[in-house]
Amino acid sequence: MNIDHRPIRATDKKWRLFRAWAARHPIWCAWQVTYRCNFRCRFCQYWHDPMGRSAEPTVADYASGAKKLASLGTLLVSLAGGEPLLRADLPQIVEAIGRFHFPFVTTNGWFVTPVVARDLMRAGVWGVSVSIDYARSDRHDARRGIEGAWEQAWRAVELLSAARVHKWQRVNVIAVLMDDNADDLEGLLEMTAARGAYFMVQPYGRLKTGSRAYEHNDGPVAPRLLELRRRWPNFLSNPYYLSRFDDHLDGGVSGCRAGRSFFNIDSTGDIAICVERRSVPVANLYRHNVGTILRRLRSASAGNVCAECWYNCRGEVESLYRPGSLLESLPTLLFDRGMARRRNAKPEEKVRHAFASGDSALYNGRIKVGPVPTGPE
Ligand SMILES: C[S@@+](CC[C@H](N)C(=O)[O-])C[C@H]1O[C@@H](n2cnc3c(N)ncnc32)[C@H](O)[C@@H]1O
Ligand code: SF4
Ligand code: SF4
Repeated sequence: MNIDHRPIRATDKKWRLFRAWAARHPIWCAWQVTYRCNFRCRFCQYWHDPMGRSAEPTVADYASGAKKLASLGTLLVSLAGGEPLLRADLPQIVEAIGRFHFPFVTTNGWFVTPVVARDLMRAGVWGVSVSIDYARSDRHDARRGIEGAWEQAWRAVELLSAARVHKWQRVNVIAVLMDDNADDLEGLLEMTAARGAYFMVQPYGRLKTGSRAYEHNDGPVAPRLLELRRRWPNFLSNPYYLSRFDDHLDGGVSGCRAGRSFFNIDSTGDIAICVERRSVPVANLYRHNVGTILRRLRSASAGNVCAECWYNCRGEVESLYRPGSLLESLPTLLFDRGMARRRNAKPEEKVRHAFASGDSALYNGRIKVGPVPTGPE
């Protein structure tokens, strides 16, 4: 595919994405913009990952890398890390990637201010997911290792929702299903619905810590998730993806398409079939051409029998390759859903109900202003 420097229109990007899918090229790229992190989550080790000390690419590097990848087609690009908003230039990175691809951001929410929310939305981010795992602040803060994390995350959801400039821009909450929060999911759905936001969930993956301690261990969970999805229109996760949670917990979902349908780029530009294989990169975005990158990804994925994770990106992408599932799955990933329908006429009442424990930091459906986050380094 020949491309020039001009931004590609959204409809053309969708068409290019579809062609990449039909040609069996990768369609999803997890691009870790930094491994630095201001949080200390118990279930993640990126905050002490040595890669956080590596030099990071400039915005110009992102622009050239995004253009290079565009010869494969248009990709769904998930910008995460580490905490991506530790890069104060994240809106510029989003803009550079958005010229050719669909940029998404996942954040712990700590650095979201009205200005940051506005800049991300104006830069054309397709969706922002804020991580919130518990319906109560004390439990979320304890697991995330930062006091005030929960309050600030909800404030981020509200600021981002208010800053949307296009109806297709989505704000999500994403939770990690762990050993002790299955009963929190409905409360989280309720709170996200009250803010016009969507909700997604992914199971804890042990490869980040090497421990199974945080794995859900309280019986079958897939039927509960599917039932919640039936009742909550803002539950965005794909039903096929949710239906396999117990298979993941009972030994793993086989048929991983890492390296074929999705891949990972590190903050150094190193490319691996998935984020958990970052210690064995196959190429580098800045040193190798696209043909070499594609060939090496394919050969690294050949014979891969790993079934260790069931992350959101893996499950959502793989659901696109099931017979007849494209139409069911693509809207989850891409199509313009705009703001989630507000289910509650009076969100503050519902939210108070969810916080009957008295723990609520919510006030009339709005978050009270918590501690002022310290700025990016
Ligand atoms: C690694 S974080 C990076 C972005 C940002 N720092 C955040 O926490 O949202 C990306 C997503 O992975 C989730 N996550 C972290 N550790 C995980 C684990 N062991 N298993 C599954 N998901 C995990 C986070 O909650 C977040 O939703
Ligand atoms: S989950 Fe996100 S916020 Fe928590 S340590 Fe990992 S990268 Fe940081
Ligand atoms: S199943 Fe294994 S190879 Fe596939 S994405 Fe997960 S960790 Fe990577």
